[in-house]
Amino acid sequence: MNQKYPKNFARFYDTIYSKMRHGDDSQFFLDLVKKTGGRVLEVGVGTGRLFTEALDAGADIYGIDISPAMLDILYDKLDKDQHYRLKEQCITSFSFNEKFELVIAPFRVFMHLNDKEDQIKALNNVYDQLNKNGVFVFDVFNPDLSILQNGIDNQTDFEGEYEPGRKLKRTVSSMPDLANQVINVLFRLDWEEENGPGTEEWETSLRYFFRYELEHLVERSKFESYYIAGDFEGNAIGSNSREFIVTCRKTST
Ligand SMILES: C[S@@+](CC[C@H](N)C(=O)[O-])C[C@H]1O[C@@H](n2cnc3c(N)ncnc32)[C@H](O)[C@@H]1O
Repeated sequence: MNQKYPKNFARFYDTIYSKMRHGDDSQFFLDLVKKTGGRVLEVGVGTGRLFTEALDAGADIYGIDISPAMLDILYDKLDKDQHYRLKEQCITSFSFNEKFELVIAPFRVFMHLNDKEDQIKALNNVYDQLNKNGVFVFDVFNPDLSILQNGIDNQTDFEGEYEPGRKLKRTVSSMPDLANQVINVLFRLDWEEENGPGTEEWETSLRYFFRYELEHLVERSKFESYYIAGDFEGNAIGSNSREFIVTCRKTST
């Protein structure tokens, strides 16, 4: 399964998610970056939806991502003298010469890790790259059981213009694989181009997590303490929680 974001999905990412996602998590992560200070790393930095705002606000922020197409969009947004802040690396194996106060993996990055070996590797690798008292924060969704069971059949989740007069549409189908605890997602983009219509499909999979599985997972890792909130306001998990926001703390050196 291809976990790297293809070229046109990177190209239209900001158009789609500035409408679909903006506001849900951005204030939470930006406040966290400002409050923490020091060196910050965004894992799965993508096109810089949060990264550029944090950098503009004066944060000493770095970014890694496995998708060159996503990083290319972000490179174009940054002054050349800031390019050193980005690296094409994976959460399970990245390393930097200096450690971080805070590592964040916003917007489902962790759900791209399908195997438990990779999930543990990722947690432990992040741990190794943190200073004492450093924190790792990531979010995954709390699975909606009816969507899990029924899947989604060819639903249009975005329709708009990506530039004046040029239409873009995204449709999504999802097929749950309950045995492997993944959702297989088929995205399709259709857009208008100067020389005719464009289209691209991308099939990928997202690993979903249950609350106690997440607790066991973090408890198996090197992190000494953690808290899982049910929303971006920090409230405890309840029956209406749509998110799991996991904050893992490293308390030893
Ligand atoms: C939904 S996007 C989120 C991008 C950005 N954090 C945001 O909030 O808009 C997920 C990103 O995670 C990256 N990613 C997926 N698996 C990864 C891995 N193993 N290591 C690093 N980045 C990964 C993808 O390439 C993609 O850019």
